[in-house]
Amino acid sequence: MYSKRIDKIVSKIPQCNLLADIGCDHGYIGVSALRQGIAKKCLFSDISAPSLNKAKLLCQKLGLDDRAEFFVGDGTQKIDYADCVVIAGMGGRETIDILKNCKFAPDYFVLQPMKNLYEVREYVAQHYHIIYDKITFDKKFYNLLVLGKGQDTLTEMQKHFGKTNLEQKHDDFVSFVRCEIAKTKKLLNKKPDNQKMVDKLALLTSVEKELEK
Ligand SMILES: C[S@@+](CC[C@H](N)C(=O)[O-])C[C@H]1O[C@@H](n2cnc3c(N)ncnc32)[C@H](O)[C@@H]1O
Repeated sequence: MYSKRIDKIVSKIPQCNLLADIGCDHGYIGVSALRQGIAKKCLFSDISAPSLNKAKLLCQKLGLDDRAEFFVGDGTQKIDYADCVVIAGMGGRETIDILKNCKFAPDYFVLQPMKNLYEVREYVAQHYHIIYDKITFDKKFYNLLVLGKGQDTLTEMQKHFGKTNLEQKHDDFVSFVRCEIAKTKKLLNKKPDNQKMVDKLALLTSVEKELEK
């Protein structure tokens, strides 16, 4: 087990022949998927050669070399095809750029963007079907999305908060909403006329009311 975050990401990777771990860094995601037999083979790719080297060394140490290939490149640039592509731990806008520049159509994408979730959801709904979009707590809050082929239509609330969270009203989501309310109120105490924060608080409060139903 590398971390609850990594385990959660790997648990959402569908069984596949060929996985691509984009922005792999240490390679924990691809390595976990290989070791658990979720992927038969993994293509590890990173824009940074020293980062990719960490994944290479880990695969060598664990005897996984014959099921792994390594590429230095931007996004999926060096990869021709994978059944499933994971893009985790990058900013939302970087994640969108990688999706836009991907030249093949995998069956699934598993995304764990760190920021700009509204933008990510707005973009992916136009190009993919959102199978899963749920927040998890592991020292911080992390959003995890699984995309399949197709398209989606999201309400404003779903773009802000993720459709699985709103459907399941689970504990980590309730904690997230409460934390965001507390943070926003603190900011508003310092700057009460910050309209963006006033609007954010109204939105969060309306979700909190929904969660209490
Ligand atoms: C914070 S690490 C995330 C590592 C791993 N995916 C995870 O979730 O634990 C981000 C990695 O993405 C790589 N990266 C950043 N932009 C990239 C891009 N456009 N294409 C490929 N890799 C990129 C960085 O070099 C770094 O190794």
